[in-house]
Amino acid sequence: MNTCVRDTALALAVVSTAVTLTACGSGAGDTPGSGSTRTIGLLLPDSTTPRWEEQDRPLLEQKIRQLCADCRIEHADAKGDVAIQQEQMDSTIAHGVDAIVLAAVDARAMAAAVGRAAAAHIPVIAYDRLAEGPIAGYVSFDAEEVGRLQGKALLTALGAQAHGGRIVMMNGDPGDPNALSFKQGALSELRGKVTIAKEYDTPQWSAETADQNMAAAISTLGAGSIDGVYAANDELAAGSIAALKADKVSPLPPVTGQDAELAAVRRIVGGDQYMTVYKPFGPEAAAGGAMAVAAARGRPLDEVATGRVRTRGGAEVPAVLLTPVSVTLATVKNTLVKDGVYTIGQICAPPLARDCHRVGLT
Ligand code: BGC
Repeated sequence: MNTCVRDTALALAVVSTAVTLTACGSGAGDTPGSGSTRTIGLLLPDSTTPRWEEQDRPLLEQKIRQLCADCRIEHADAKGDVAIQQEQMDSTIAHGVDAIVLAAVDARAMAAAVGRAAAAHIPVIAYDRLAEGPIAGYVSFDAEEVGRLQGKALLTALGAQAHGGRIVMMNGDPGDPNALSFKQGALSELRGKVTIAKEYDTPQWSAETADQNMAAAISTLGAGSIDGVYAANDELAAGSIAALKADKVSPLPPVTGQDAELAAVRRIVGGDQYMTVYKPFGPEAAAGGAMAVAAARGRPLDEVATGRVRTRGGAEVPAVLLTPVSVTLATVKNTLVKDGVYTIGQICAPPLARDCHRVGLT
């Protein structure tokens, strides 16, 4: 049975217990004081989406160091290129690392490399994206719930137009299994209510491609006839909004997003974007780091996991699935500011001072 854990509080409680269990030198796989150095490969997909290098990387490194002061980390960024990531996996395997954290550029294309790691007895933790092949564990957010939050928010924003309104769907990269789950979650809310007038996949989650696709949608459908835009993340929202503005669409239709990027939060305050999805990267990285350290020490990953998920190959693996949070103008303060993700000063930096005052943030 696929038992996905959807409770952040529980997930966090179990993760922090695991932190005690796997504190450096205390695991059964280690001899205290032996000074055996472990190496963890950290393979991230790109820097096109800011989260990977700006949030996930430092947070994962911090967690790994906290749990294992003498662990070495081998980081590589695949620049959105499947072949580069396959080479990075192979060289990480050749270096004889003790565990690999992998956020796959393309989940299916990485399956063979994950198999080579497993054959070399190197456990692979699929990070955020469910890589195919014999992974040892998985850490992510509930991706269908992300889509449901986006779909629900779009219906709320459409109000009276929610029935029969015409929307454009900007989906993510088809090689990323999350993109399909986001879309399925969104469609579970939108289907039968709005009309999907145009729909695009966006290879490599590129904002430029979303910009071009939105420009094409506007010229086919007509500027005034787009009632809402489902953008799967904040980068696609940025591209879509740029095209709508370039075509002088006014007022802008509601646009969704994901990742709570600072630029997106500022667009929400300025009235250009309707919502984003806040996925606290700290807890995700804490779970990923704890799993990586446990794996590198040969500890059972169930000590860190809060549930199990079924991989495409049918295996059940230990997993941590965290809960995403919808953020609109009304909730920026109670979520992102309250959690210390951004200060009011960052959100309201010029030229947004007046908007912040108007919406009651300052
Ligand atoms: C992640 C999102 C991210 C997107 C593009 C997805 O797999 O879950 O947070 O915006 O990839 O990098």
